[in-house]
Amino acid sequence: TLSPKNKGLFKRAISQSGVGVCSWAIQRDPLFWAKKLGEKLGCSTDNTTVLANCLRVSDPKALTLAYHLQLTNLPTALVHTLAITPVVDGDFLPDMPENLFANAADIDYLVGVNDMDGHFFAGVDLPAINAPLRKIT
Ligand SMILES: *[C@@H]1O[C@H](CO)[C@@H](O)[C@H](O)[C@H]1NC(C)=O
Repeated sequence: TLSPKNKGLFKRAISQSGVGVCSWAIQRDPLFWAKKLGEKLGCSTDNTTVLANCLRVSDPKALTLAYHLQLTNLPTALVHTLAITPVVDGDFLPDMPENLFANAADIDYLVGVNDMDGHFFAGVDLPAINAPLRKIT
C-alpha cells in the first residue's frame, strides 16, 4: 500500500501483526545481512555488485537456510534482530514508510492483531512470560 509502484493496483488492504511503521518493519542495515548470508553461501563479499549477483543466482532454499535467527544472547530485543525485512531501496520503497502514507490514501485499510500476537518474540525477550503461574498463598 505504501509503494508508489502499486498505485491503482489495490482497493483494500489488511495489516495483521504489524504495520510499516513498526520499529522492526524496515531493515536498516541490509548490507550487513547480505554479506553475512553471502559468506555462508560462498559468495565473495568485497564487491557489492559481485555479491548481489551471487545472491541472485543462489539456490533459494540454500539462501533461506543460510539465515539463522539467533534466539539467545541477543544484543537487543528479538524483533530488532530480524534480518529479512523490507528495505528502503529508493525504488519500490523510495522512503521510510512514515513518509509514504499519501500513496495509500485511496486504499480502504483494516489493521488488526491476533490473540497471542507477538508472544513468540516477547517470550524470548522475557522468558518469565512463559513460566507457570505461581499460586499466591
Ligand atoms: C565490482 O565488480 C564489477 C563486476 O565484476 C566490476 O565491474 C567493478 O569494477 C567492481 N568494482 C570494484 C570497486 O572493484
